[in-house]
Amino acid sequence: MGKIIDGKALSQAVKDEVKAEVERLQAAYGRKPCLAVIIVGENPASQVYVRNKVAAAAYTGMESRKLELPADIGEEALLQRIRALNDDPDTDGILVQLPLPSHIDEEKVIDAIAPEKDVDGFHPENVAGLWLGKRCIVPCTPAGVVRIIDSLGLDLAGKHAVVVGRSNIVGKPVAKLLLDRNATVTIAHSRTADLGAVCRSADVLVVAVGKARLVTGDMIKPGAIVIDVGINRGADGKLCGDVDFASAEPVASWITPVPGGVGPMTIAMLMKNTIACFLGRQE
Ligand code: GUN
Repeated sequence: MGKIIDGKALSQAVKDEVKAEVERLQAAYGRKPCLAVIIVGENPASQVYVRNKVAAAAYTGMESRKLELPADIGEEALLQRIRALNDDPDTDGILVQLPLPSHIDEEKVIDAIAPEKDVDGFHPENVAGLWLGKRCIVPCTPAGVVRIIDSLGLDLAGKHAVVVGRSNIVGKPVAKLLLDRNATVTIAHSRTADLGAVCRSADVLVVAVGKARLVTGDMIKPGAIVIDVGINRGADGKLCGDVDFASAEPVASWITPVPGGVGPMTIAMLMKNTIACFLGRQE
């Protein structure tokens, strides 16, 4: 039954939109948007994510700068680097790859990024903007999830959307974006009683908990749309999502694969956010 959503193709279309926009901005403003990406230490997963972000920026033709800082950098030294980028007129977007080493307070780091350059949408000013319905930068993964859902061309009014996971980065903002599309939204989490029954009531099921193959086919309503945000290494050593694809795919009407679903969309939306930051700074 399930049709597999091609996140790679969709992300390619978004990156091509951005590429055309970069050319237009260069012609109109005499410079291209510039994204600064900071990575602290040598977390292998973070290195892959940052490499992919910088490669996507290069594809779109925008400028990018990668700042690789040592794992033992002091918190104040990192904050100073961020302040310098805040003050740099040629930097439009600032992204600090998370997680940070344990001696650094992530909240302080996020708070230090100028909200108008906060391409992740993690700064409290952008979080408040999202929940109050003001113009703001929307976090990349949630933006990618709803872009995928929007691409299906369905009206979510009156539909039940269940978001499994309540993180600040994914679960909570996804829930707000689905609410904005008039879905009736439930947020489920590790303490939810009878997770299977809650998931089975979902017309749209978004899973973002970081637990390999937690949601199985018997937890899915026939015909539901299933969006899998997880990227895990399964017991078999293979990359897998939070949804057990093999049992879920026959039940769902649409489903995202892992890899090749939400992941590429996150990066594409980061490119869109960099453009938004560039434009926001021209006013
Ligand atoms: N680490 C995992 N996801 C993200 C993200 O969306 N942004 C940043 N900066 N770090 C992350």
